[in-house]
Amino acid sequence: MNNFEYKNPTKIIFGKNTIEKLTSEIPADAKVLMLYGGGSIKKNGIYDQVKTALAKVDMIEFGGIPANPEYNVLMEALKVIKEENVTYLLAVGGGSVIDGTKFLSAAALYEGEEPWKMLKNKERPNKGLPFGTVLTLPATGSEMNSGLVVSREETKEKLSMGGPALFPTFSILDPQVITSIPKRQLANGITDAFTHVLEQYMTYPAGGLLQDRFAESILQTLVEVAPTVVEDPTNYEAASNFMWSCTMALNGLIQQGVPGDWAIHMMGHELTALFGIDHARTLAVVTPSHYKYNFEAKKEKLAQYAERVWNVTEGSIDDKAYAAIEKTEAFFHQLGIDTKLSDYTKDYEGTAEEIAKRFTERGWKLGERQALLPEDAEKIVKMAY
Ligand code: NZQ
Ligand code: ZN
Repeated sequence: MNNFEYKNPTKIIFGKNTIEKLTSEIPADAKVLMLYGGGSIKKNGIYDQVKTALAKVDMIEFGGIPANPEYNVLMEALKVIKEENVTYLLAVGGGSVIDGTKFLSAAALYEGEEPWKMLKNKERPNKGLPFGTVLTLPATGSEMNSGLVVSREETKEKLSMGGPALFPTFSILDPQVITSIPKRQLANGITDAFTHVLEQYMTYPAGGLLQDRFAESILQTLVEVAPTVVEDPTNYEAASNFMWSCTMALNGLIQQGVPGDWAIHMMGHELTALFGIDHARTLAVVTPSHYKYNFEAKKEKLAQYAERVWNVTEGSIDDKAYAAIEKTEAFFHQLGIDTKLSDYTKDYEGTAEEIAKRFTERGWKLGERQALLPEDAEKIVKMAY
């Protein structure tokens, strides 16, 4: 196991009817900006719950943060933060609203001219406005980590960054919020969290016995609850296990002391930037090809995953590893998620070359051994057409 330092300062408030606990989490003298997305919270009652809990707080609002939070919209929110002397941010939404809020937390105290540079230079801010979250969509784990991803339509870019100051102070996780989420977004959430675990697990054996079993247990739990979550999101037991699995999948715990891959995400982000495909769906497109292309490097962990998560007991290491890729793709299909780029766009010719070009310009080498060059990414994306 590798050496590690681990600190996660986010307070989690989990369970039924916990949004009312907001009252005790926001400092009494704060000037709060509540941030939200396209309006789902106004239809499902979450907006009213937040407003009721914070009736006595000095709070203004900024709505309209789109999925894959758009830089230009966030810059409008930044103006409000500065003009109104906001001291505390409250994200009420899924990964997009939370990521947008994290970016604003850093941008509010950024001393450079153009906050986009923080993303371009992959800066790691060590100061930010404090913020809390009310999670409305389990998927990204953003509610308990310090990472964020922001998109920019005019340049068709989608870039990530993070830093120690960008953990939420608290996050409220009421699993009842999933009852209003459309099936397509529930399937996305399961797929995203599942892939987060894979990115931190599907590398090479590194002696992290406990980390492996943490990872496998999250995967098993997601597989177990997925059908119920999609068919009946009012089932509280399934909803609560789904929500907690998504948070645990990317709060840093399972990645301590072991190598991480993240190449699937880096390629997937480009597919969202170029075509607007939902984040989770881009991962389902890249995953099978990535594992086939890197079969030799990953086959021991693929075989372990086949045995422990999918109960594949017959055959050689190679047989099991191959079965693991097939089982994973079948799981995505079972969720109604297509796994080929051509299922999402007819315009896919040239995509692999464009992604390789971008990775070359950025000087990126990917994967757990940093051995995946832009030309490898090109081949993987082509295999996913
Ligand atoms: O905007 P509204 O109207 O609220 O609707 C949203 C949105 O259309 C809707 N929704 C959310 N909660 C709902 C609901 N609809 C009904 N009932 C509810 N309770 O769902 C739609 C999608 O929301 P979004 O926040 O975009 O989804 P998600 O949580 O999947 O976030 C995706 C973003 O997170 C980034 C992705 O790249 C993408 O930009 N990621 C962030 C990560 C992180 N910070 O650690 C890691 C991830 O890998 C990911 O990259
Ligand atoms: Zn993801």
